[in-house]
Amino acid sequence: MTIVPEGCLDPEGCVDMVGHRVSGWAWLPAEPGRRLRVEVLFGNPPMLVEALADQHRPDLESAGKGDGQHGFAVPLPDSLAGREPVVDVRLTDFPGVRLRGTPRRAILTLGLVTLRAIRTMDGDLRRLRGFLAGMVRLNGGCVDTAVPSVADLHAWLTGRDTGRNGEDDCWTDRCWLVAERGGRMVGHCRIGPGWPAPPGSGALALGIELHPDIRGFGLGRQLMLAAHRWAAGRCARLELAVLPHNAHALALYRALGYVDLGPAALPETGEIHHRMAVALPAPHGSVWHTGRSVILVN
Ligand SMILES: CC(C)(COP(=O)(O)OP(=O)(O)OC[C@H]1O[C@@H](n2cnc3c(N)ncnc32)[C@H](O)[C@@H]1OP(=O)(O)O)[C@@H](O)C(=O)NCCC(=O)NCCS
Repeated sequence: MTIVPEGCLDPEGCVDMVGHRVSGWAWLPAEPGRRLRVEVLFGNPPMLVEALADQHRPDLESAGKGDGQHGFAVPLPDSLAGREPVVDVRLTDFPGVRLRGTPRRAILTLGLVTLRAIRTMDGDLRRLRGFLAGMVRLNGGCVDTAVPSVADLHAWLTGRDTGRNGEDDCWTDRCWLVAERGGRMVGHCRIGPGWPAPPGSGALALGIELHPDIRGFGLGRQLMLAAHRWAAGRCARLELAVLPHNAHALALYRALGYVDLGPAALPETGEIHHRMAVALPAPHGSVWHTGRSVILVN
């Protein structure tokens, strides 16, 4: 009798990319030689395209996913190219299972994006929390434990988390920038006191994340540059922490002049990150105020 460890009966998989093509992987740890059937659903009413997850991917093999022959790729149907359809991916033989990382939207050009700072009124904090919750769900995490409440977001933004009694229009050491496209929040960048910037060192910490639908279009760079403009004159340098295997983020940070400061363990989990920093010039003209917006078109 073969004893299958608990959890191995469930298929694993993920959608990696949605754009001109939809690609990802799926496999069943209990039957590592089996090639799973995948259903890609485009738009509403859905247009169904079937595929077999049988393409070899060296990254899957080195991650221990069987022989690595579990990748799939399906082109976006020509008729849907300009329509930015929602894309869902399911497994034909496992009804009800939706691959991690879905639903997504097939975006081929970035278009108009606005960058601005979050305000503590007008439902802004609820929208920010909604965006953060959506990101956690896409990554398969738990919203209740991983996403701060609206009250916590408000306390952080107004400095009340540190016991200070900050006013909305006089934040000097923190700012939460968001990117919006077609009325939807698609990215955020938080600058303020916190790990890995040592307290009292003149540095502020930066954290950035974009919705996967709009990664790779140059928006991350623009959001970082907006953060640098906000921070210039407010702190001597920005610090961040990045996982060593996050090649995309590392390339972006190095291109923007960040230098390695060595390893740093995430306080909650001990996970080792690269700590990086960039020195900021004094501001040219006036510093970037939280009330300002920047419009980007790609
Ligand atoms: C990291 C992140 C913010 C970058 O934003 P982005 O809009 O995708 O990046 P950009 O399109 O601006 O690309 C910036 C640079 O990244 C690098 N890059 C872009 N695509 C890449 C890829 N597929 N692989 C490796 N590097 C890549 C290049 O250096 C690029 O510079 P270039 O345009 O001069 O070639 C975004 O991908 C993201 O949110 N990732 C997930 C969350 C995350 O990792 N956050 C950082 C945690 S520390």
